[in-house]
Amino acid sequence: MAIRRILTADEPILRERAKRVSSFDASLHRLLDDMLETMRDAPGVGLAANQIGVPLQVAVIEVDDRVTELVNPQVVKGSGEQLDWEGCLSIPGYVAEVTRHVKVTVKARDRHGREFRVKGAELFSRALQHEIDHLNGTLYIDSLDSLEELVRVSEAQEEVTEEAAAGI
Ligand code: CO
Repeated sequence: MAIRRILTADEPILRERAKRVSSFDASLHRLLDDMLETMRDAPGVGLAANQIGVPLQVAVIEVDDRVTELVNPQVVKGSGEQLDWEGCLSIPGYVAEVTRHVKVTVKARDRHGREFRVKGAELFSRALQHEIDHLNGTLYIDSLDSLEELVRVSEAQEEVTEEAAAGI
């Protein structure tokens, strides 16, 4: 496994829709292993492949000690809305309040190509939506009215949870 460099928001690859994965081979497994190690090293709770320069529909999330690997993920259902703090490993040092669905159902494939569905609530739901946005070339700052809504983590510590500050 290897720790890869995480790209920041100014990199064009973060603005492109990632390609669907069609071969579930050793190189995909290596990518997923590297992504988990890179995300833990950051540290963060989610990482999309284009954040390390690989334009494929692949993401990893780790919330409450549970690792979820997502290949070709799609939101199939979302309900409720919740405004909460959110950060991103590609926008280090900042957070903003972002509205997301409270609950989502996501359809994806695992590293062996098997289709599965996963339901998420709260932070896990937020991470699922955030990573799928990444794979579509969207960053959370796109939903803000102004970049002035970004708050430095160091200036917002009292109201921002450690997980939100870590970035997804
Ligand atoms: Co992110």
